[in-house]
Amino acid sequence: MPLVRAFAFDAYGTLFDVHSVIEACRAVTDDPQGFSLQWRQKQLEYTWLRALMGRYEDFWAVTEAALRFTLRRFNLAVSESVARQLMDAYLTLAPFPEVRGTLDRLKTYPLAILSNGSPNMLEAVVRANVLTGYFSHLLSVDAVKSYKPSPAVYELGPSALGLPAREICFVSANAWDAAGAKASGYTVAWCNRAGAAMDELGFTPDVEIRSLDQLPPALGI
Ligand code: LAC
Repeated sequence: MPLVRAFAFDAYGTLFDVHSVIEACRAVTDDPQGFSLQWRQKQLEYTWLRALMGRYEDFWAVTEAALRFTLRRFNLAVSESVARQLMDAYLTLAPFPEVRGTLDRLKTYPLAILSNGSPNMLEAVVRANVLTGYFSHLLSVDAVKSYKPSPAVYELGPSALGLPAREICFVSANAWDAAGAKASGYTVAWCNRAGAAMDELGFTPDVEIRSLDQLPPALGI
């Protein structure tokens, strides 16, 4: 295991629970869980498709397009103000319960977020959860106008932190994101919250944990 000198965290699904929008979804559907899953899945698909198409739009626009698709898919017509409330839920997503404690344990290291989120979205969700002080960098794909798992995105970490990728532990709950970071040379911790199977992309994370509080012991720190 290489010496880890800094950490870069994925945001959505790793630090912040995207399914905390379920509460807001309850206002429009009696299947808020299904709605939230479809919304998240479409949001990710649109990032991959837009990156392949070379048609970048920021994550706010992608998230809104995915919401509009999901509303149509569920045969729901909602007012603009309700759509706005659903979108705004993204700015105040709840962190997973162990996030603050883990960041406290790691705060002697430079800590970054490296995320698909637009700069505004990342600043808002970090500020809403009073986590600003922990992070030296909020790195958004917006700087390279593409999406994970494009190598250009993962290059943002080493260049901002001034360290080789292998000395940065990239932490993600998304298996495909963990594979993407591994392909770019990071030391990778996959936070496999759901007990999922690892993606078959030819890259294996260095450590697998079930929640973020297992990260320091898994790395022996
Ligand atoms: C992110 C997505 C992958 O935060 O969850 O980048």
